Amino acid sequence: MGRRVLVIGGGGREHALAWRLAGDDQVEKVLIAPGNGGTAGGKIENVAATDIKALVALARQHKVDLAVVGPEALLAAGIADAFAAEGLPLLGPSQAASRLEASKAHAKQFMNRHQIATARSHTCSSVDEAMGCLDDFAAPYVIKADGLAAGKGVVIAGDRQEAEQVINSMLAGLHGSASHTIVIEEHLVGVEMSLIALCDGKRYAVLGTSQDHKRLGDGDTGPNTGGMGAVSPAPSGSGLDVAALAAATIEPVVRGMAEAKTPYRGFLYAGLMIAADGSARVLEYNCRLGDPEAQVLLPLWEGDCFAALAAAAAGRLADSELAWSSKAAVGVVMAAPGYPVRPETGIEIAAPQPDAGCMIFHAGTRRDEEGNLFSSGGRVLNVVATATDIATARHSAYAQVAKIGFSRAQFRKDIAALG
Ligand code: AMP
Ligand code: GLY
Repeated sequence: MGRRVLVIGGGGREHALAWRLAGDDQVEKVLIAPGNGGTAGGKIENVAATDIKALVALARQHKVDLAVVGPEALLAAGIADAFAAEGLPLLGPSQAASRLEASKAHAKQFMNRHQIATARSHTCSSVDEAMGCLDDFAAPYVIKADGLAAGKGVVIAGDRQEAEQVINSMLAGLHGSASHTIVIEEHLVGVEMSLIALCDGKRYAVLGTSQDHKRLGDGDTGPNTGGMGAVSPAPSGSGLDVAALAAATIEPVVRGMAEAKTPYRGFLYAGLMIAADGSARVLEYNCRLGDPEAQVLLPLWEGDCFAALAAAAAGRLADSELAWSSKAAVGVVMAAPGYPVRPETGIEIAAPQPDAGCMIFHAGTRRDEEGNLFSSGGRVLNVVATATDIATARHSAYAQVAKIGFSRAQFRKDIAALG
């Protein structure tokens, strides 16, 4: 009998997951909760459910063979534990395991305990202590809220005065309880790379490498965003031994979590800073697929994606090699005017059928009763192209962007061009 999958979330990452799973022959139906204006169609159906109780009920009612969680907040809130308590199959780490993303202080402690290379840091909960810690570092100062802050919890302060202001406002509750504790750390220099692995509690298998483009503007200028585009494989990883990088950054997490009796099942994302000499240090761990990295990784995943995800969820990831394409993928995010501060919603969008080799993954979109498409969030569309090399994929992605009617959309012109 065909498999039924529940994808949880409503962004571009979840659209790409639903699309990829729907491409597997053994998958008969993909429910996506809540999905967005572009997800429904073919085997994929949108279902309105966002809280853990409703999602558990949905999985039970539809007898899903697997649920896959996109966003971190639900993992930190214990969705994996709630599904496990009901005997429902879900891919994603438990609340205890997902603290690796939900608390940066905990992640730092974990990395130090397991000798994982990372920036030198101090964890502080009082202003006096934090001001004293600044003496141990030089500008620019890196200050991080301990908890989840929707991508806004990291500030790189150019001078001491700015660092002191950030410390004062974070500890005064800028991000609520998420910034009652902060981490101050050494500023690292290099190029970033995202290394993501599928883990089953004991074993792991790495996906392709990828690279996000976090700043709003061309040439890595302007404010940080959720991510304005991605490329796979990561140009910063060329010439590096990916298996060795995973052995240094993924393996100790899988082993350490198993030893702590909080086995890590799900996607594990290591955000790496690669220095000029090729050495890597971990900037952060995320307990999920990256967004927009997933949108370039999933089109390159060959073979039976459902089988690999279900095996990981069941603790039976047999083969440590995933079937991976040797092609490249480039994804350009089209964001609403005003993003990231105040994105304008309600702009009508005309998205054509994608060209061959291209995909248009939706994020902040909705449809009205007549089926017309409107922007409804900050990051609106992810335009992805695959090709034999990065330059060709880049060219196709931008040619597809040019065919989309979305007035005053913001997008970077240099995705995958920086190297
Ligand atoms: P995080 O959420 O910890 O990955 O931080 C978000 C972004 O801030 C990273 O992707 C980096 O671009 C930057 N960042 C974080 N930590 C550091 C650091 N120690 N040195 C330099 N940049 C950093
Ligand atoms: N692309 C960065 C993230 O998903 O956190």
